[in-house]
Parts: sequence; structure tokens; C-alpha cells
Amino acid sequence: MEQALMREASLAPGVRMLPTYVGSTPHGNEQGNFVVLELGASGASLRILWVTLTGIKGQRVEPKSQEFVIPQEVVQGTGQQLFDFAARCLVEFLDAHSVGNQGLQLGFSFSFPCHQTGLDRSTLISWTKGFRCSGVEGQDVVQLLRDAIQRQGAYSIDVVAVVNDTVGTMMDCEPGVGPCEIGLVVDTGTNACYMEEARHVAVLDEDRGRTCVSIEWGSFSDDKALGPVLTAFDHALDQASLNPGAQRFEKMIGGLYLGELVRLVLVHLAQNRVLFGGYTSPALLSQGSILLEHVTEMEDPSTGVVCVHTVLQDLGLNPEASDAELVQRVCVAVCSRAAQLCAAALAAVLSHLQRSREQQTLQVAVATGGRVLERHPRFHSILQETVKLLASECDVSFIPSVDGGGRGVAMVTAVAARLAKHRRLLEETLAPFRLSREQLEAVQTQMREAMAKGLQREPSSLRMLPTYVRATPDGSERGDFLALDLGGTNFRVLLVRVAEGGVQIINQVYSIPECVAQGSGQQLFDHIVDCIVDFQQKQGLRGQSLPLGFTFSFPCKQLGLDQGILLNWTKGFNASGCEGQDVVHLLREAIRRRQAVELNVVAIVNDTVGTMMSCGYEDPRCEMGLIVGTGTNACYMEELRNVAGVAGDSGHMCINMEWGAFGDDGSLGMLSTCFDVRVDQASINPGKQRFEKMISGMYLGEIVRHILLHLTSLGVLFRGQQTQRLQTRDIFKTKFLSEIESDSLALRQVRAILEDLGLPLTSDDALIVLEVCQAVSRRAAQLCGAGVAAVVEKIRENRGLEELTVSVGVDGTLYKVHPHFASLVAATVRELAPRCVVTFLQSEDGSGKGAALVTAVACRLAQMARV
Ligand code: BG6
Ligand code: GLC
Ligand code: GLC
Repeated sequence: MEQALMREASLAPGVRMLPTYVGSTPHGNEQGNFVVLELGASGASLRILWVTLTGIKGQRVEPKSQEFVIPQEVVQGTGQQLFDFAARCLVEFLDAHSVGNQGLQLGFSFSFPCHQTGLDRSTLISWTKGFRCSGVEGQDVVQLLRDAIQRQGAYSIDVVAVVNDTVGTMMDCEPGVGPCEIGLVVDTGTNACYMEEARHVAVLDEDRGRTCVSIEWGSFSDDKALGPVLTAFDHALDQASLNPGAQRFEKMIGGLYLGELVRLVLVHLAQNRVLFGGYTSPALLSQGSILLEHVTEMEDPSTGVVCVHTVLQDLGLNPEASDAELVQRVCVAVCSRAAQLCAAALAAVLSHLQRSREQQTLQVAVATGGRVLERHPRFHSILQETVKLLASECDVSFIPSVDGGGRGVAMVTAVAARLAKHRRLLEETLAPFRLSREQLEAVQTQMREAMAKGLQREPSSLRMLPTYVRATPDGSERGDFLALDLGGTNFRVLLVRVAEGGVQIINQVYSIPECVAQGSGQQLFDHIVDCIVDFQQKQGLRGQSLPLGFTFSFPCKQLGLDQGILLNWTKGFNASGCEGQDVVHLLREAIRRRQAVELNVVAIVNDTVGTMMSCGYEDPRCEMGLIVGTGTNACYMEELRNVAGVAGDSGHMCINMEWGAFGDDGSLGMLSTCFDVRVDQASINPGKQRFEKMISGMYLGEIVRHILLHLTSLGVLFRGQQTQRLQTRDIFKTKFLSEIESDSLALRQVRAILEDLGLPLTSDDALIVLEVCQAVSRRAAQLCGAGVAAVVEKIRENRGLEELTVSVGVDGTLYKVHPHFASLVAATVRELAPRCVVTFLQSEDGSGKGAALVTAVACRLAQMARV
């Protein structure tokens, strides 16, 4: 078992350990009507059931059922014959029970070894027991059944799930001393299934929860273990069977074989004159003349002796009194061995579970089913006694299944139907987030149009603000500078030394409490100056008036390098009395109020510009800056002649696009989902920054939270139970998307993250949350990529180039931390701007360094002008 779970190649073909895709034992709230079709459990017959699940624990409705005998020529005919027969029986059953033709959902109990790849996908590995229909091995049996039902054409039936009989048996069972986590069948064949930790099952790329594994122990044939047990009779039986060499273990236990083993022993004893006075009969010599029913009857403690006589006479023999007793002893020996071997196998499962769950005493219930267990007078008790002996550390209760596992199959079907419905609802919910290439091209085109209009100062959602930065650094800049960096996750004060050998930075992070960010402007700027004073003191810079560059990451209308009028706050800021004011002036006022420092504010710089400059210091091809952090935005070097409102026709100027506001004129309407609308409405700036709200870190978590709320209301998540936690705004941080989507993370850890949030999830829930996160972050990255593609294409066209090679400096927590964001942006750009070769450079030092460099360039130019 353990080798097969880990897929270690073992020499002896052992047990198969097949995952069944049943992830949990029943909740008890499954409900609805289901058709169950059973094939392969009980010899050459087929059973159809109509099962009603009430959804109420303990409340059972008697199923309607009908058995059909499969003609021998069908059992060994073609697959199509077999499945057509099954479909005809279905029609007959449904006609007879007039159940209507509305949304019939069918569970298929197919009791042969199958490779399942889903609840409704299952490939037959090989026939076992008495079956041998051609053209089925290697085929998906669900599909074969669907096709056959369709050929009949009478009913439309949805085949929702396929299960092994052992699984149906386990799922039907109410818990005993412990949960019912093992299903055991001894019928024509024998097998068991049990709940295994998913992480122990190598073929499942999964480490969450448990999964039901069908052991297929019938094929157990380890030489070392079975060698001493196998008798000459076993070899003879095997040689004469339909599948010599296969299912050796099953051939010692299964009901199909017990009668035959008895027969072979009787023949042997007769031929050695121990029985029947040395006589045999043609019937005794023919294969299959003693059946399980005969053996069961002959062993009956009260009527057995009489039965032995009848059976033997029917075989054309003339038994004496002493023969009858011997024949009974043969039956007992064959069946006791079967029960004991079965117990040994079950004990192996139990001790594996006990060890792998590290429990002192494993308390577990075993659901049992199959005719041998149900009808043989002593099989069950021998099994129980032997298990007690071999697995004394386990406390096991045996619970016989009520109706052959039909209800259990219906339960799996109910779960499968629910999962399929949930998947559909999930897909419908996420569909608007999955953007087609056409949609992305449309975004790119609209972005280009809005850029052109913004540059010409025509009405446009893109403001295209001139920054008065005309050149990237040339490396000759020198000196010490102060820098401020306000508007991202952190507020920083920096001392930047630009020297021969490169740039050195000392910085300190200060917090800006939300009450300050959203209080009065005076408070905000006083706080900023306090931080500067603190920094100067700590760095021993008091009394020095260093030139200062101010990274201020909000939309500003600049009239020069050191003058920027705040147009409006974005992201989480909303300090009063600042919009429409020159930010440099507000800072200078605060300095004056504090009378504490002397500062020489030289430049005000957007973070995109700071990032571009900072990366430009290393790579002269860097002509675009991109931020995907709390907010999102981009800047790039535009031809001055294209920029209305700034004097001069030659050279370049960096343009702060303020693309976060793209779509604020309603042009992104078709892309906006109801969840985007909710996030927008609940923000401090409804209707504003619509592009940013689909992309940046401040909002993605909120989009995910709204989707999760919606899915909960549909019953797809958290079993439909709304939690207070999830109603709380901003509880789902964007960093969770990055953590949850990290490849190295197992779903188990995803669960842990969400459980930390107080969300009570199942493993299925964790998977759904992961898919939601992926859809939301993917759309964000693609929209961002469409924006970058628009910009680089414009630069290329501006220069009349066939091909442009350009670098983009990037910063922002989301871009840097998310495991797939950066590569998705790059992939989208490659798709949409195939004539541009774009390199993305991650800025390591933040935009503060860039602000210092802008200041340095300005100082250098000013000095040159003075000279
Ligand atoms: C930083 C800049 O490196 O990136 C900030 O210095 C900028 O000014 C930030 O706003 C963007 O990232 P985030 O994730 O902090 O908003
Ligand atoms: C055979 C089948 C197995 C089934 C068992 C009991 O061993 O291969 O799938 O569970 O019989 O019916
Ligand atoms: C917001 C600001 C913008 C800034 C961006 C990234 O969109 O308006 O100026 O560049 O966030 O921080």
C-alpha cells in the first residue's frame, strides 16, 4: 500500500491505490433524487435504483430498485453491447417508475479497477471477476455510458459521478465508535477503500485534506506474502480463469471463486478415494458447478447437513454420511481462510491509518457490504475476530450497509452535482475578469487616444502632466541631497550622496497615521516637517540647508520644477485644504511655522518620475517609469513638440500620465464588473481613478473580498454562511493575493492564511479562493500591460522607428511581491506591442533617489547657467 501510494516502482504488481476524487465523508445534508446504476458488484447482474436523499440525518426513504440479469453473451461480448444493455435497462426502469425526464442525475457504481481523473472521468484499467467485454479497457466508462444513453434517446440523463462499490458502501454508512472511513466489500470480488491523507498520495498534486483511495487489493500478489499461502487448488483455479495470473488475492476470497475452490478440493479428495468412494461425476468435474450459494447453504449450522446431500445429489453424486461431514469441513476451511486473509488485509489498512495519524487507539467504523459478508454464516464473525487479533490497537466497529451502497452512490452524486453547479457559478462570476485579446487591444487603443487628447489639452481622462524634467541623469551629478518620499506604503526621509563611485542612501521610514492623511493639510505638512527635523537631528544635519527633492505621488499640475499644484488627492489621502494649492508652498509654510529648519526645496517629483530617473542613472535606455503599488501610474519621455502648453519645440519632457484616472470619463464601462462598482462606491473618491481601482494594491484585496461575499451568497463558498469577518472592509489585504498565489505554497497553507482571517474554510473553499485571486490579479496585470504597450508604441511611432528598444523602471509593492504579476505584464506587452523590445528594471532604491537625482540635475544646470 505504502509503496503504491508513493508510486515507488515495486517489482510485484501489488495493490493499486486508486484515488477516487471523493474528498469527504457525507455531511448528511445532501438531498435530492438520484438514479443509481450499479454494474459489476454482484456477478452478472445490474441494479438500478431511484434514491431520495432527504437532507435530514437519520431520515431514510426506501429506494426503488430493480435488478436485471446480464446475458452471458453480453458479459463477454463487446463494450457497446454491454453499455447499450445498461442504457436499455435504464429506460425500462425509468418508464416503469414514471419519474419524469427533468434533470435526471445519475451516479454510476462501476466496480472494476479504474484510473479516475475526476468525479466523472474514469478509465477502466482491466476487467476483473467474470467480465471481459472488448473495447472497454483504456476507455472512459462514463463517456461510454453517456454515449449509450444518448443512443437510446429516450431520457436526458446527466452522468454526474462514477464510484467503486466500496466507496458507495463507505458513503452510505452512519458513523460508529468513530467516523466511518473504510468501506469493505466481499461479493463476487473483494476490495476496500479508505480515507487517506491527500499528501500521502503522490499522484494527486495536492496536500489538503483527505481523499478516498480504492485499494484494489484483489490484485495483491506479492510473492513473499502470498507464496506460502497459495495452494495447488489456487493455482489450478487461476490457470482456468478468464484472467490467469491476475487478481490472485481476490481469487482466494471473492464469492466468484469460493465455490470453485471447494469443487477443486472435492475432486482431489474423490480422486484420492477419500470421498464418494473414489467416484466423481461429470458435473463435479465441470468448472463452475459449485456456487457461492451452495457453499453458504452447506455451511449453515442448522440445515447444512441436509443441504450438503441435496447439493451433492444435484451434482450426480451419491454421498454417504461421512462424506457430508468432510464436505462441510472443506467448505469451512476454504471460507475461513478467505475471511482470515480478508481480515489480514483490513488489519493492514487499520494499522497504516493508526500509524499515519499517530493515534494511540484508532477509533474507526468500517462499512461492510457484499453477499459473502451478508449471507455467509461465519465469514463476518471470523473477520471481526481476526481483525481484533491482528490490529489490537484499533477500536473498530463493523457496520453493514443497508441497501448495497446505493444511497452512498447517491450521496457522492449529490456532492458531485453540487460541485459541478458551484463550478458553473464560479466560472460565470469570474468570466468578466477574463479579458480577451480583443478587449486588451481595445484598452490599448483607447489609451493611445486618451494620451493624444491629454497632450493636446483636449478633454481626456488622462491628464498627461508635464513634469519639467527634460533629461535623464548623465552621471556627472554630484553632491548631498535631502529627499522626501510621500504617497506609497511608507513615508520616507532620505539623505542621498551622489559621488564619483555611485549613490549612497541613508533613509528612515516614518508612519503617516490615517487620521493625519485624512485630517487637515496643515496637520499633514506639520507632521512631515517634524519627521524631517527628527531625521536631521539623528543624522547630524542640523543647520545645513541641503537642496531637497520631494517625491509627491499624487497628480500635480507643475508650472516648473519646484512648483506643483495638487489637482486632487488619490489613494488613501484626503487632507483638507490642499487641493488646488502648490504643494511646495504648503511645505515651505509648514517649515516657516516650525521655524526649526532651513530647507531649500528644488524639485517636486512624481514617484513614476523618481523611479524612471533612479533606473535611468543605471541604464540610459530607461525612458518610462511605472508604479504598481498602493496606486498605479506611468510616466515617459515625450517629444516636446507634442506637448501643448509648454514652450519649446525641440527636445523631450517627461510626462506624468496619471493613468490611474484612465476611464474616469466612462470609457472603461464595458470592462467594469459589479464588483469594481462596489469597490469604487465604497472608496473615498467614488467615480475617480477607475483604472487604478482595477489594478493597484489598494483595491485588489477589496475586489476579491466582494467576489467572495457574492460567492458565499450563492452558496458556493463557506457552505453559504456569511461571516462577519468577511463583511469587514479591507480585511482581505492585497498581500494575501501574493501569498496565496505563490507557487511554492501548498493549498494547506492557503487554508491557514484564510483561517487566520477567521474564515472557516473547507479544502474546496481554499481552491475557489485561489482561483478568485488568480482571476483578479491576472486582469490587473493584463490591463497594466495594455497600458505599457500603448506607451512604448507611442514612443516608437514618435521616433519613426521600425523597432524600439526601451527600458521601463518599475516600482511598487504589488509588482515586486506578487509571484506572477511582473511576468504577466511582460507577456501582455510582448503580445500587444510586438515591435518593441521592452526590458523591465526593478527600482531598488525607491523614488527618493530619483527625486535627489532630479534635484542634482537641476542644481547642475543652475550652476552652469550662473557660470
Ligand atoms: C516606492 C516609492 O519605491 O514605490 C514610493 O519610493 C512609491 O514613492 C512606491 O509610491 C509605490 O509603491 P507602494 O507599494 O509603496 O505604493
Ligand atoms: C473487484 C474489482 C473492484 C471491486 C471489487 C468488489 O476486485 O476490481 O473494483 O471493488 O471487485 O466488487
Ligand atoms: C496615484 C497617484 C499617482 C501616483 C500613483 C502611484 O495614482 O495619483 O500620482 O504616481 O498613485 O503611486
